[in-house]
Amino acid sequence: MSNDDELLRIEGIRKTFPGVVALDGVDFDLRRGEVHVLLGENGAGKSTLIKMLSGAYRPDGGRILAGGEEVRIHSAQDSAQLGIATIYQEFNLVPDLTVAENIFLGRQPRRLGMIDRKRMEADAAVLLERVGVNVSPRARVRELGIARLQMVEIAKALSLDARVLIMDEPTAVLTSEEVEKLFSIVRQLRADGVGVVFITHHLEEIAALGDRVTVIRDGKSVGQVPASTPEDELVRLMVGRSIEQQYPRERADTGAALLSVEGLTRDGVFHDISFEVRAGEVVGIAGLVGAGRTEVVRAVFGADPYDHGAVKVGGSALRGHDVNAAMTAGIGLVPEDRKGQGLVLDQSVEENLGLVTMRAATHGGLVDLKGQRVAAARIAEQLGVRMAGLGQQVRTLSGGNQQKVVIGKWLLADTNVLILDEPTRGIDVGAKVEIYQLINELTAAGAAVLMISSDLPEVLGMSDRVLVMAQGRIAGELSAEQATQDSVMALAVSTPTQATTAVEGHRGH
Ligand SMILES: Nc1ncnc2c1ncn2[C@@H]1O[C@H](COP(=O)(O)OP(=O)(O)OP(=O)(O)O)[C@@H](O)[C@H]1O
Ligand SMILES: [Mg+2]
Repeated sequence: MSNDDELLRIEGIRKTFPGVVALDGVDFDLRRGEVHVLLGENGAGKSTLIKMLSGAYRPDGGRILAGGEEVRIHSAQDSAQLGIATIYQEFNLVPDLTVAENIFLGRQPRRLGMIDRKRMEADAAVLLERVGVNVSPRARVRELGIARLQMVEIAKALSLDARVLIMDEPTAVLTSEEVEKLFSIVRQLRADGVGVVFITHHLEEIAALGDRVTVIRDGKSVGQVPASTPEDELVRLMVGRSIEQQYPRERADTGAALLSVEGLTRDGVFHDISFEVRAGEVVGIAGLVGAGRTEVVRAVFGADPYDHGAVKVGGSALRGHDVNAAMTAGIGLVPEDRKGQGLVLDQSVEENLGLVTMRAATHGGLVDLKGQRVAAARIAEQLGVRMAGLGQQVRTLSGGNQQKVVIGKWLLADTNVLILDEPTRGIDVGAKVEIYQLINELTAAGAAVLMISSDLPEVLGMSDRVLVMAQGRIAGELSAEQATQDSVMALAVSTPTQATTAVEGHRGH
């Protein structure tokens, strides 16, 4: 390697926030034409590190070199000038602008002093085509589902023609087809000499895409290894121990049906959905993006209306489109979009954990604040939420730790029927096992769990029964024994009878 190949070098970077040492001496380097993976547990400091390169944060100590020379990156402009483009873990798009406006924000093509809309939309269309996402440049970002948002972010980064492309968990919300598409784009960029920094919690992606891996633990770089390193070795480096069993499902005795969904239909979205979840059971819902899974569970929870059918909890019919009725009946929903629907970002960890219990605890107008604090501390400990304390603002937690708080909130609420929509998105391998163990505890105590997941090994590993949805219908049901990668996928791509269309993109508010 000649020296010219070095794009970036980070030496002994440090960053402290009130009460937290986020980075405590990290070394990292990036070469032309490589994919360098950053690996570490939730809260290890990965996002903080890349924010030093994007100009979002300034380091408290250490050096950053670009092309061998020390540089200061104090703003997004400084970063752009060095040819660095960043795709953040939290989406950075403006909801009320169109897709094209977001892609070219601040650098719209102009003609005679006016924004040249036609050209902007045409250029955006080319980029969107390149990332293979079927979305209009004129669509408002607000209307897009989470996977499409991510693809727009990627199109935006590509438009910058960067020498360094930083991607913070770009695959967390993508389906396997979209991931493949993204990988081929990244491989092309690598062949063109771009240096890519890639963060992921999906270990199988590392060997598939990466060249080198830098492992960060507790804000320190603890090793640099080739991407071909076996997964169990990567896990050991990352969490400091090995994980015996990735999916530790312990089946519980099943009882009566706690949740019964009968012929549920929302015209044009999902049709004739019927299933039960019994006490002690974990039922998985698999399917492709757009199959209508999220739409169904939102309707079950009362967040969206439905047109026909019934939802029963413990045998009694539930009023439709009434979240309060659902919660009073003991249903909880951990939504897929945690930022939008799961958390109050400006409030503390404790307040967020208490959001659901507050209601239950207000017997006779009294809130048991002390009891709430004790319970919040216990659940945060069980889930291993990395934080300065229960008073820390949720906004400043790492992505994975925010997700743990959403889950913890419902675990605390004494929910009988817990619905989880993509529960372990962005969660590190060690913390996943903790969440699975909590699911075991819940079902052992007689709760019913309904889990949507696009992570097929997770559905197969944790479900007692699997429902597969396709095109707004239940295409089939498989027992844990029958459910395999192949049997699930065969149903997921099938065309159920009287299939309907127009499910994709339809989402209530
Ligand atoms: N603005 C902030 N104020 C206070 N603490 C912060 C802030 N930003 C990050 N932290 C803390 O720094 C630590 C590292 O967070 P970071 O987001 O870098 O983790 P991460 O490795 O990206 O984790 P994840 O895999 O969950 O995304 C965490 O303890 C986090 O709470
Ligand atoms: Mg992060």
